[in-house]
Amino acid sequence: MNLPTKTAIDELALFGGAPSFVPEISTSNLVRPDIERFLGYGRELYAGVPLVERLESRLAAYHGTKHAVAMANGFWALALAIRALALPGRSEVVMPSLTYRRLADIVAWVGLVPHYCEVEPETLAISAATARPCINERTALLLGVHPIVNCCDVEGLVALARETGLPLMFDGVESMHETVRGRRIGSWGRAEVFSMHASKLVNGFEGGYVTTDDDALAARLAAARDRGVDDERAPAELGVSSRLQGLHAAMTLAGLDELDAQVLRNRERYRVYQAELARLPGIRLLAFDETEQTSFKTIVVELLDDWPLTRDRTVQALNREGVLARAYYAPPLHRKTTSYATVPVELPLTDRLAQRYLLLPCGDRVDADAIRGTVALLRLLRERGAEIAARWPQ
Ligand SMILES: Cc1ncc(COP(=O)(O)O)c(C=O)c1O
Repeated sequence: MNLPTKTAIDELALFGGAPSFVPEISTSNLVRPDIERFLGYGRELYAGVPLVERLESRLAAYHGTKHAVAMANGFWALALAIRALALPGRSEVVMPSLTYRRLADIVAWVGLVPHYCEVEPETLAISAATARPCINERTALLLGVHPIVNCCDVEGLVALARETGLPLMFDGVESMHETVRGRRIGSWGRAEVFSMHASKLVNGFEGGYVTTDDDALAARLAAARDRGVDDERAPAELGVSSRLQGLHAAMTLAGLDELDAQVLRNRERYRVYQAELARLPGIRLLAFDETEQTSFKTIVVELLDDWPLTRDRTVQALNREGVLARAYYAPPLHRKTTSYATVPVELPLTDRLAQRYLLLPCGDRVDADAIRGTVALLRLLRERGAEIAARWPQ
């Protein structure tokens, strides 16, 4: 790939110049295992080997849990786990607003009401301190969600759940590989949920799973994903049709075989960003906690107060260049108009943070030159920001 070398603002795609990146570079992981490895699992599947069960055992071992229940996607994995764990007769789920855009929809799908909490400015995530003020006599569940870089306050939330007697589960989609005090994400809550969407650390084309140490919960989830039919073929559990199919298991198993190599490649990309961004003022790279295990997967930066353009304009200018940067979880969920009820809240810190962060290109299709080219564009935006803002197309 050739490095984009734009030095004048007239060259920017925003003002009619040719885009710097064709094809575009994105923030999606899109990692693919070696095709022969995938086909090898595919052949086993074809011969009748139960690959979904093999994958479930492998994932349970990976997370250090008794069970991993595979699902068609993270959406239904979350919905079924939330439904199974929420306290009966109660209505509210405590969860962050600065998070995945569909998370509140999932809560609403199971008939519950999102009660959004603030996040910590350092982690951009829910903590015991931010969840506590939302707890009341209607609280059915604490939903801890890990942010895109590093983890939320796992230990604080576990202590809060113990103190209040509330069930605690985690959306671990962004922290599949991470550890807290050396212990892998997956076994901290009553249940934890992961996704194998192509944008995630392990690409199963699609897919999801729930980890748990609770035998009864695992059986309930397995029945619920399988149309609610239990082992006796009696209608025991309100279900959906959400089984993971064997080909997705084949792809996921192949991805797991290559996970360590992928993490090394992710780390190399992160090191290039570290080196390049260290020389660019006004922007801060969110650092992975290297005292723990981490995937180095997604690159998130904060635009500091002296950055000359708004975050949204920065994203737009990059997008026009074929750099598909994305705003970090914006708008936050409490700012969205929804067809379902949510608890009305004021979240000034979330509002502020939701304007400062963006994701930069990463994943398997982004090489070191693309990263240098992206940072060169950011440098031009930074150095000529005032002129760019003055000429901004109406
Ligand atoms: C934090 C988080 N939770 C849940 C999901 C849902 O997973 P899926 O796409 O497999 O339904 C996603 C997907 O992007 C996510 O980012």
